[in-house]
Amino acid sequence: MRFSPNFLDEIRSRLSVSQVVGRKVALKKAGREYRGLSPFKAEKSPSFFVNDQKGFYHCFASGEHGDIFTFLMKTEGLDFPEAVERLAAEAGVPMPKQPERNVEQEDERERLYRLLEASAAFFENSLRGGLGLEARRYLEGRGLAAETIASFRLGFAPNSRSALSAHLKSKGFSPADMATAGMLIAGDDIPEPYDRFRNRVMFPILDLKGRVIAFGGRALDKNAPAKYLNSPETPLFHKGHILFNAARARTASHDRNRVVVVEGYMDVVALAEAGFPEAVAPLGTAFTEDQLMLLWRFAPEPVLCFDGDAAGQKAADRAVEVALPWVKPGFSVSFAFLPNGLDPDDLVRQQGASAMSDILAKTRPLIDVLWAREVKAQPADTPEQRAALEARLKALASTIQDPTVRAYYGRELRDRLYQLGRERSSARFASLSGRTEALKGQASYARPIAPPDWRGRERSRLSGGDRRYPGRNGSVSAVLPIASPELVSHFQSISPREALILKTLLNHPWLIDEHCEAIAEIEFAAPSLSALRDEVLAVHARQNSLDSVTLRTQLSKSGVAKVVDLVAQTITHASDRFAEPDASATDVEAAWDHILALHQRQAALGRALKAAEEAWYRDCTEEAEIRLLDIKRQIARDSAMEQMDDVFDQPDEDASEVKRAG
Ligand code: UTP
Ligand code: MN
Repeated sequence: MRFSPNFLDEIRSRLSVSQVVGRKVALKKAGREYRGLSPFKAEKSPSFFVNDQKGFYHCFASGEHGDIFTFLMKTEGLDFPEAVERLAAEAGVPMPKQPERNVEQEDERERLYRLLEASAAFFENSLRGGLGLEARRYLEGRGLAAETIASFRLGFAPNSRSALSAHLKSKGFSPADMATAGMLIAGDDIPEPYDRFRNRVMFPILDLKGRVIAFGGRALDKNAPAKYLNSPETPLFHKGHILFNAARARTASHDRNRVVVVEGYMDVVALAEAGFPEAVAPLGTAFTEDQLMLLWRFAPEPVLCFDGDAAGQKAADRAVEVALPWVKPGFSVSFAFLPNGLDPDDLVRQQGASAMSDILAKTRPLIDVLWAREVKAQPADTPEQRAALEARLKALASTIQDPTVRAYYGRELRDRLYQLGRERSSARFASLSGRTEALKGQASYARPIAPPDWRGRERSRLSGGDRRYPGRNGSVSAVLPIASPELVSHFQSISPREALILKTLLNHPWLIDEHCEAIAEIEFAAPSLSALRDEVLAVHARQNSLDSVTLRTQLSKSGVAKVVDLVAQTITHASDRFAEPDASATDVEAAWDHILALHQRQAALGRALKAAEEAWYRDCTEEAEIRLLDIKRQIARDSAMEQMDDVFDQPDEDASEVKRAG
């Protein structure tokens, strides 16, 4: 409804901003204004100002600005009419009459609220009385404190078909209203109407204003047909629109910037007792989009908790689909998975509140859960299967209504697909080579970008494809067959040139004396080679002028022994003879400078290629493609020149007699 400006001004004139704000923020007088710590942003020095004359507050830390109504909306999640109503009551200004609602309907709603309130009071009293003994024992047995029971207004519905209705009748309520409110089961085919809730522990369900609008009842009798029974839909109660404990959680959520959705009423109650008043639960139905809208008034990223088992996973998957169309900038949901078989109630009872805090600290964003679900749904090992995965992901992302968020999802999902393609195709390559076992589950062994094609072979695809990396002169690999898993993963990422550089150092350690700094700076794509280089330098630091045997002996005692073996097995070609132990010092010196320069240039080209491939993959623009092709041409040109080297730069057997002195 619309409020007249006069009406709103009347409230403003009776309540000062400092009075309303002062309940939440400690204010200090500063000249004509008040000053305090921002309620919108954590800060150490106060940058939040209140001006009673002008009737507004201003926060320099967050840019928030507004009056008493916006303050309540921002800090307590009220909507405007609610804020007006609350402050009008406080100021003692009567609310304007609502003309649009007809009086008869209004009377009915009023009666139903009173009827449900009377029912709640009756259940509370029954729990305290003689008939409530078993229910009291039950709740005690579940570990609930008396204060918790009182603050949630838990009650007991006696095991009688008429106890409640008789009580309500004595208070003047009609059977028709009892039936409309969902408390009495009546109808043409029911000769004797009877109470809906019997022999159950009663959980009153409150609306945002704290009024009772429905009940959930837990059976005490294990053989009862339903463990939990809920009120039906009534004029006051629409299951999909409200959440159990919403009113209390709203206030708590604003203070903690968090709201947690769990499955059951008992979970909410147990969590509140354990220090998590910001928990809510749906009302015996699955999570709905209306509930999501409600939660976003509490906190921008509600945490949805699910059991870690298959059923919980399924429920989470469903929630993904409910939430996805509605996500918008800054607003989403996140997911928390509980240890298998435990609900939050079990968890805090068995392992304490800190276990729940841990779970809530490890939430997963919506996109992760969505991605995991789709990747698990079908195999994605072949290009065709990945294309199907891409189609599914596209269809899902297209349900997002907000264009900005939709675009970001598109981008991130493309990136993930791209990464997955690289990982899976490398894994398949490995399995083709009969090394599946060693590689299974090692998603990270595949380097994001492979070294460039040293020999300028045409790549079959621009990106993400299944590649083999030809070694020098097109031999498939410069590394001999290997067996252990560690070596397999080394094999996946070691470039022949890098291996050659280290092989040269191992056979000609005197190079280290002169080129120590340059060696320290070589960028190896393979971490294992980087580690070997570091170890070589460490040995050298302890003992200069090493000979090859000493160096290898020292290395064999360290963690890099296997890498040494691997490097030693690197196949060398005619032009690589300088790496062999018997090469002459002159040849080694000359080749060393050359190979190092080449390596630096190719490392730079490799980085440029990676960036260009990613840019192309992401944007698919013509510019990006031109850049990519240009880099590929440079790489091809380098390789061609290297091949020329191979042809013309044969080591001169006769000139290699001059050995280095010493
Ligand atoms: P659960 O069966 O997981 O029970 O139902 P719970 O929350 O762990 O309860 P306790 O610990 O056994 O007392 C979770 C929620 O599902 C709805 C209720 O909202 C319940 O809180 N439910 C469950 C029903 O609506 N009907 C049922 O028969 C069972
Ligand atoms: Mn439980």
